[in-house]
Amino acid sequence: MAAASSKSKTGVFIRNAKKNIRTNVRALLIFLSAFVSAALLTLSFYTSNFAQVEKTPILISACFAIFLLIVSISIIVLQYFSKKVYSNLRSIILFLIFLVSLPLIVFLAGFGFSVEGMLLALLIIPAGVMGVTGLLGAPTAFILAIFVSLIVGFPNSHDGAIAVVLMLCVSFVGIIMIDKFWPVRKIALSILILSLTYFVIALAIFARFDTSMLPNVYYLFTFMPIIAALSVMIIAVGITYFLARPFHITTKTRLMELSNSSTGLLYRMSTEAPGSYHSSVMVATIAEAGAITVNADPLLTRVGALYHDIGKLKRPSFFVENQVPLGLENKHPKMSPRISHLVLTSHVKEGVEIAEENNLPEEIIDVIRSHHGTTLAAYFYHRALSESDGAEVKESDFRYPGPKPQTKEAAIVMLADSVQAAVKSLKDPNRAKIDEMVDNIFNNRLYDGQFDECGITLRELTALKDNFGKVLTGLYTYTRIEYPEVKKEG
Ligand SMILES: [Fe+2]
Ligand SMILES: [Fe+2]
Repeated sequence: MAAASSKSKTGVFIRNAKKNIRTNVRALLIFLSAFVSAALLTLSFYTSNFAQVEKTPILISACFAIFLLIVSISIIVLQYFSKKVYSNLRSIILFLIFLVSLPLIVFLAGFGFSVEGMLLALLIIPAGVMGVTGLLGAPTAFILAIFVSLIVGFPNSHDGAIAVVLMLCVSFVGIIMIDKFWPVRKIALSILILSLTYFVIALAIFARFDTSMLPNVYYLFTFMPIIAALSVMIIAVGITYFLARPFHITTKTRLMELSNSSTGLLYRMSTEAPGSYHSSVMVATIAEAGAITVNADPLLTRVGALYHDIGKLKRPSFFVENQVPLGLENKHPKMSPRISHLVLTSHVKEGVEIAEENNLPEEIIDVIRSHHGTTLAAYFYHRALSESDGAEVKESDFRYPGPKPQTKEAAIVMLADSVQAAVKSLKDPNRAKIDEMVDNIFNNRLYDGQFDECGITLRELTALKDNFGKVLTGLYTYTRIEYPEVKKEG
């Protein structure tokens, strides 16, 4: 007993030590990246004709120090407002690449000493920031827009300050357009709004600058703002499209492609495991509604739910929901409960394998891997107990291997999957019966510790419960209209 306890203490110590090393290495890498970013920015400032100022060693050192400060603050702000990006080193690097490359292009293009340079900055910076909206989300893009503007603005004269204000305006409008309307909704409207913003900016430039200095390119903003808006949009979409794969980022467009069931794995599932496919569609509907209620990502939750049981494609005939549609008999009564349990639980591992073979995004694979957490396969456990003749039956042998859900989205899919399976067994379902069943399942998962690692709160669980009750009542209770029998006369 004492040996086991000291062994577990050593295990905890080693785990904590590994975690500390990982955290320190990560912090060191982030600091090095910030240092390199500040050095690159200083170098580009030094080699450009920026503001035609004399580049004394003091100015260069001051620039380096302020760039390092700005880059470091931007990373700390990310930690506050964009935790998901901050927790992923690859995403931080991508953020820093944009934080450095956008000012770099702008410095080298001559911003700070020519109006052409400023106009170019008004196209390049919003385009980059909008690209980041598609890649890392709106909060990160807002942070990027602010800090890029600070970097560009620092070594500048007061004309530069006007440009910074304009840059922020057009970048913010661009972020909102991409976040709200991209990829399919009202794309024409977003280009129109962006065009109007460029037109307003053209008026502002006209009012604040010497009109005799304005170059021909300025008239692009005044007379053809739609071309400026279109170019910015095309560059932003190009950035999102080309950088998503190398940085392992799951964009909305990719998720929408994956939710199409007329091709790929979902199509295979609809033909080879029709019962599992139908259940997954129902789980997706319930989970998506839940995600909206608790401010999780509804699209990611929906797609995760659509693919959560993709592992059932390996042996569809062993799952009861496919036996009737495929015209097969139930094989489990003839199998031992342990073998049945092994066959059924393997759909999690096989789902992960199928997902990896088909290059599904990591977030979806995480949902597949954790959708049963470490829950108990109660039916086969109790069958094993009743058939054991007094022999020991370990509960742990009948639990799924885990891990427990690591994100709110994964926890929602787990709950939606459980309630969807349970509601089908209710006789004459109504709201009261559904609410009671949902309550039992939520409590069971909560006390079983399944939400320990995903950060979902009790308040969110209560909101989810209520939402699931409503959605399930809509899906599984029917008010039938009695059609009057038509009596034949005579
Ligand atoms: Fe499953
Ligand atoms: Fe399922």
